[in-house]
Amino acid sequence: MDRFAPLRLRTIALVGLMGVGKSSVGRRLANALDLPFRDADLEVEAAAGRSISDIFSDLGEAAFREGERRVIARLLDEPPHVLATGGGAFMSPESRAILKSRAVTVWLKADLEVLARRVSRKDTRPLLVGRDPLEVLRELAQARYPAYGQAEIIVETGDAAHHVTVEQVIRALSAYFENPPPANPEDPPQ
Ligand code: S3P
Repeated sequence: MDRFAPLRLRTIALVGLMGVGKSSVGRRLANALDLPFRDADLEVEAAAGRSISDIFSDLGEAAFREGERRVIARLLDEPPHVLATGGGAFMSPESRAILKSRAVTVWLKADLEVLARRVSRKDTRPLLVGRDPLEVLRELAQARYPAYGQAEIIVETGDAAHHVTVEQVIRALSAYFENPPPANPEDPPQ
């Protein structure tokens, strides 16, 4: 019996702060499970025909968030896949609700110092422009951790290489599907 079969029944959505490896881990996880991979940031860029930096500067953050919400709803209509969400996606109550009802959500979590070091290597993230990454990440963590904490699964990645995190995520997903939590009567039917 294919031990990954139960992991292919629902979309696996990765949430968490920028720099934690949602895209890199997601791509590898999809490969390991033989599932398609979707990256919400790339899909928003494709839909808008411009980069995230340009969407923020030309249209504003609200337009980006609206595009992100629509893209996530569309992706969740697709057959099961691994979905890397942008760091802010899970903050939209609507996106959070649909992600939680149609996917199994996994919060990838790492120390802010680790994330700050990683995000400093790239200058493509509009929220970081002209600011100290660690300070931004501290603010985001404070605002977002309560929402990320609503994910079904939490994986503390430390500073591990992405392939190590993939193994950790697979173990956590397997344990989750072997022993799923009882359904919450307040959740909408799936
Ligand atoms: C954002 C994170 C980015 C991208 C955008 C906004 C955020 O995605 O969606 O720059 O609000 O945290 P990553 O988490 O993939 O970097």
